[in-house]
Order: sequence, then C-alpha cells, then structure tokens
Amino acid sequence: MGKLLKKLNEQYNFEISSGYIYYSMANYMKDKGMDGFAHFFNKQAEEEFEHAEKLRQFLFEVDVRPELESIEKPQVEFGNFTETFKTAYEHEQEVTRRINELVDLAAEEKDHRVTSLLQWYVDEQVEEEDNFRGIIERLERIGESWAGLYIYDGELGRR
Ligand SMILES: [Fe+2]
Ligand SMILES: [Fe+2]
Repeated sequence: MGKLLKKLNEQYNFEISSGYIYYSMANYMKDKGMDGFAHFFNKQAEEEFEHAEKLRQFLFEVDVRPELESIEKPQVEFGNFTETFKTAYEHEQEVTRRINELVDLAAEEKDHRVTSLLQWYVDEQVEEEDNFRGIIERLERIGESWAGLYIYDGELGRR
C-alpha cells in the first residue's frame, strides 16, 4: 500500500471513529431526555459510516484491502447541549483538515482517481460545518429557555 492509499485507509478508520463519537453524543442526549437531539446524532453517526463505506469501496476498486484499526473510546460527558454541538463542530473541522491534507497529497502524487474521489468529501465537509454552525447559532439564541430547547429538540428529531 502506497503512502496515499495508506492515508485513505486511515481516513476510512477516522470516519468510523467519527460515527462512534456521534453515537456517544446520541447516548448523552438520550440520557438527558433530549430524544430529538439524540436522533440527530444517531443519524449523523449513520452518515459517517456511509462516508467510511464509500472509502472502503474505493479501496477495493483500486485493489487495496481496507484494514480496520482499534477505535479510541469516545468522550462520555459533554458539559451541556451547546457544548456537545460545539465539540461536534470542532471534530468536523478536524475532518476537513484531514481531507484537505489528503487532497494535497493526491495532487503531489498526481493520483487523479483519488483527487476525484476526494472532491465529494470536500463538498460534504462544507455542508457538515455549515450544518453544525447553524445549530450552535440557534442554541446560543435559545440559551437557557427550556421551552425553546424542547421545541428545537422536536425539530431536530424530525431530521
Ligand atoms: Fe464524514
Ligand atoms: Fe461528518
């Protein structure tokens, strides 16, 4: 496995661990009675596994067998609801940083197959970051209002 494909395999694992982190956030929210927020994070986790699956398929297509690594235990406590989404947002920024690094490496190695694949992830990350930023803005406006929180919980529960 060359350096670039090795890094892609790393990203495959990182997407899975992202899903794992969002499952932990879902459990935190569910425990606090925020079923809508929990639903949101469960969906988010499922999406991460789809991102992983897309990388897995690609690796097979270029004749590389993907390798699973061990997954780090995710954070369990997140402070409060807004903090949870902020942590998720920061995580997405880290994902974006890694995708950009991969894009640079693919360009360096002139691997157009990987460049093409990664374009999808670049676009996806714009959406992901925008999504979390929007939620954090909403939550900061809602503040400590339980009525507001419950309405928003219901809204995200219909995602
Ligand atoms: Fe992802
Ligand atoms: Fe994501």
